[in-house]
Amino acid sequence: MKEKIIINIELLKKKKRAIILAHYYTDSKIQDIADFTGDSLALAQFAQKSKAEIIVFAGVHFMAETAKILNPNTKVLVPDFNAGCSLSDSCKSSDFEYFKKNNPNHKVITYINSSIEVKMLSDVICTSSNAVKIVNSFEKDQKLIFAPDKNLGNYINNLTGRNMLLWNGSCHVHNQLNVDAIIKLKIQHPEAKVIAHPECQDIILKLADFIGSTKDMLNFTKTDKSNSFIVATETGILYQMIQFSPTKQFYIVPSDENCNCNDCIYMKMNTLNKIYDCLENESNQLILSTNQINKARIPLQRMLDLS
Ligand code: 13P
Ligand code: SF4
Repeated sequence: MKEKIIINIELLKKKKRAIILAHYYTDSKIQDIADFTGDSLALAQFAQKSKAEIIVFAGVHFMAETAKILNPNTKVLVPDFNAGCSLSDSCKSSDFEYFKKNNPNHKVITYINSSIEVKMLSDVICTSSNAVKIVNSFEKDQKLIFAPDKNLGNYINNLTGRNMLLWNGSCHVHNQLNVDAIIKLKIQHPEAKVIAHPECQDIILKLADFIGSTKDMLNFTKTDKSNSFIVATETGILYQMIQFSPTKQFYIVPSDENCNCNDCIYMKMNTLNKIYDCLENESNQLILSTNQINKARIPLQRMLDLS
């Protein structure tokens, strides 16, 4: 039998012509009630095309911001305004502006995990699923800045042979995944393939059989012949992996050997109760100025056109 809160959210959604978008890292119950669950790129694309009157964005702040920039006439509600992102926070726009001024003649490629102010200072945005394509869209001799994730930037530098100037930012979940824990899991399950998100440190990426965005990792587990996977990313993705491949084994890589603390505290701030409350009261509406929307849409649209 369905929980009462779920029935109530479904009724509200119909009444208000609302949809719920969720990232793979949110709680499984939220993924279940979402109209669409995806990685950052797919969520941005879905939000842009949406005809709903209200989008409740169960993810983190920069994702809801992206939805509002791409679909400014829709009301975008966020279940919890504290659901930020440590990677986005590692790049303050005033510091970034200074960094940019000190490195003239560079084009700026910014990862979508960034604030609207940093996006406004950028030439083009990328996600982990299209970063190579975006970087390769620039001439080989074009000087490039990549921000804010140093691990993703380093990974893309290695893949493309570029020497992009990297901002020194990282995600508190991925940057702390423990390499010894992977080795231990690999000894216990030698047949398992290691799959990793490119926000992980280089030492972890070097051990990976597959590296990709959340959606790409999920697709890999669906299509690859292997029956077991060591998963180096946030825990929420396991729900979809198990649903699609119930007979396969998944081993999540912990942050350190004594804990399973690789939950993104921000993603996990989304709850069914908060979704219900913001939808019922139409509260926690994301407001952006026209100037912000117009400026940040340019690099975002460039990314979508190149994707
Ligand atoms: P994806 O674009 O792969 O979903 O990644 C988003 C994110 O925040 C990873 O930490
Ligand atoms: Fe940000 Fe890391 Fe959470 Fe992704 S997992 S939303 S990069 S804090």
